[in-house]
Amino acid sequence: MVTLEEKLFNKDIMSLETYIMFRLKEKTEALRAGLTAKNRAPIFLSMGAPTMSPPKKLVERVKELMDEPNIHLYATPKGELSFREAISKRMKKRFGVDLDPVNEIFSLIGSKEGIAHLVRFLTTQNDNKFEKDIFMVPDPCYASYWQFIKCSGAYGYHLPLTPENDYKPNIEEYYNKMISEGFNPDKLKAVIINYPNNPMGVGTTKEYVKTIVDFCKKHQVLLISDAAYCDMYFAEDEKPFSVFEIEGAKDIAVEFHSFSKPYAITGWRLGWVCGNASIVQRLGKGKSTIDNGIFKVLQKACEEILNDPEGDEYIRQGNIGYKRKQDIMVKGFRELGWDLPDEKVPHTTFYLWLPIPPRYKSAFDFCEEVLEKSGVVLVPGNAFGDYGEGYFRLSYVSSDEQLQEVINRFKADGFTWN
Ligand SMILES: Cc1ncc(COP(=O)(O)O)c(C=O)c1O
Repeated sequence: MVTLEEKLFNKDIMSLETYIMFRLKEKTEALRAGLTAKNRAPIFLSMGAPTMSPPKKLVERVKELMDEPNIHLYATPKGELSFREAISKRMKKRFGVDLDPVNEIFSLIGSKEGIAHLVRFLTTQNDNKFEKDIFMVPDPCYASYWQFIKCSGAYGYHLPLTPENDYKPNIEEYYNKMISEGFNPDKLKAVIINYPNNPMGVGTTKEYVKTIVDFCKKHQVLLISDAAYCDMYFAEDEKPFSVFEIEGAKDIAVEFHSFSKPYAITGWRLGWVCGNASIVQRLGKGKSTIDNGIFKVLQKACEEILNDPEGDEYIRQGNIGYKRKQDIMVKGFRELGWDLPDEKVPHTTFYLWLPIPPRYKSAFDFCEEVLEKSGVVLVPGNAFGDYGEGYFRLSYVSSDEQLQEVINRFKADGFTWN
C-alpha cells in the first residue's frame, strides 16, 4: 500500500536522509546526558563552523543598522547594488579579476543554497540512470553535493581525489571512462571543483584548473567552482586563486563564494555567485521566484567588512589561530601513533582527514565508538563519497583547550593507531 508521503514526493526526495551534520548533532544530543555523566560531554569536531566571535566591527554595524529607515523591508534577490559593487571590488583586489556588479554577480543565502538551486535548475528528471543529467563531482567532496544531485534527479559521476593522482583527476580520462560505461556524454551538464577542498584541505595549481577549463570549453559544459575556503590558508605562496584567473574561464564558469567561514558567520547565510553573465542571470531568475534575498542589514554590514583592512586582519589572525589548532591536533595524533609526515599535513582550511586505525572495519564503526566512549563527534569519511571509506574528518574549530581535551580523551580511552 502506497503511503500518502510516497504518493506525494518523488522517489529521489524520498530516498534522502537529513543532512549528515544535523543527523550527527541530533544523535549526539540524545547521548549528551549519559556522556556528561561519565565526564565525556560532547565535543563537536563535525561541522565546519568556526566558533570564534565574528569581527567586532561587523557585529557593531549590524546593531547600528537595525535603526535605519526601510532596512527591514524585502531586499532584492540580486543583492543591493552597493553589495555587488563591494564584491566586485573585493574580487579585483583579492584575485585581480574583473566582474561586472550588474550582470556577473548575484547574492546568495549562503553558497549551499546557490549551488543546490543551480544543480536543480540544470537538471531534467529522468528515471533511466544512463539518461539522467550528469555532474562530474570530486570524491571525496562537500557531502551536500551528493544530496543536491540526488534530490534534483541527476547523476553524480565520481572524480576520485587520491594521493596517486595528486588530487588532480585527469578529466578527459574520466570522461572517456564514463562513455565506455554507457553514459550519454550529451547529458554531462557540469564539472564541480572545490579547491581548497573539503574534506581533505588539499589545494591545486592553475595548470590543472586550466585543463578543466579547456575540457569544459571543448565539450560545452559548465564549470562550477566552489571557492568557500579561498581565504583559509597558511602559506602566502600557496594562496588559493579564483577560477577567473584562468584566461577565458568566464566563457564557461561560475564561482561560488561564502562569507560563512572567513568571518565566522555561518548562521547569517550570505554568499555570492559570480562569473558567466548568462548563467548567473538565469540562476538569478530562478531564485527570484523562490527567495527575496538577504536581510539588508547583513548585506550592508558585510559589504563594508569585505573591503575593510580590519576584515582582512581578522581573516589573517583567524588563519594564524587555525594553524596553531592544527599543530595541536597533528602533534596529538602523532603521539597517538598516526603516521603524519609534514607533507601529509594540509596547508588550507580547518580540516584534518585521517585514516581510521587498521583494527576497525569501517569509518562508521570507528566514529561511532569514538562518540559513544569519548563524546567526540567526528564525520565518517564515506559521508563525503565512496573514496572516503577508511577515513574520518575532523574540523579543528573548537577552542585550543577542547582540542587538547580530545587528544587526552583519545589517549585515556584507547583510541590509538595500534
Ligand atoms: C565546500 C563547501 N561549499 C559550500 C559550503 C556552504 O557554505 P555556506 O555557509 O556559504 O552555505 C560549505 C560548508 O561547509 C563547504 O564546505
